[in-house]
Amino acid sequence: EKDKELIRGSWESLGKNKVPHGVVMFSRLFELDPELLTLFHYTTNYGSTQDCLSSPEFLEHVTKVMLVIDAAVSHLDDLPSLEDFLLNLGRKHQAVGVNTQSFAEVGESLLYMLQCSLGQAYTAPLRQAWLNLYSIVVAAMSQGWAK
Ligand code: HEM
Repeated sequence: EKDKELIRGSWESLGKNKVPHGVVMFSRLFELDPELLTLFHYTTNYGSTQDCLSSPEFLEHVTKVMLVIDAAVSHLDDLPSLEDFLLNLGRKHQAVGVNTQSFAEVGESLLYMLQCSLGQAYTAPLRQAWLNLYSIVVAAMSQGWAK
């Protein structure tokens, strides 16, 4: 219960517009693994990572990612209800060439974003609470890679 409060409170404190936070998260991700940028086929039209990060298609994906996290946060009491959705989401990512190993970097980028955005409010228990939620989401998405 304490975990849920930490997650809800911190997510809310990021404000209504989550897109800029998502951009921070994905900037970090492409720093950790620049190869992932190439999975967004439209990125070939852009000269630099910066151009890509500000492209409308890319911001749309960031928006979608933030909406999925938002859904997880609002379903903390009922995460199994998201399992089918997350399994299908995993399938789609398998189809576009994402590897389940990349989830480690995605998780690291999520924590990096939270640390940047929350400052002092980013504590060890909060970090652990987010890691727990993230591991549930990853486990559900990973089902999409199973045959
Ligand atoms: C769709 C890549 C992580 C949520 C897509 C697409 C690509 C992609 C190429 C299809 C084109 C597009 O919509 O832009 C990646 C890569 C990731 C990543 C490379 C990191 C390794 C995530 C994460 C989430 C997410 C962590 C949410 C938890 C979505 C959603 C869609 C999508 C909701 C739309 C699926 C649909 O069309 O129904 N992703 N993605 N993605 N992604 Fe990701």
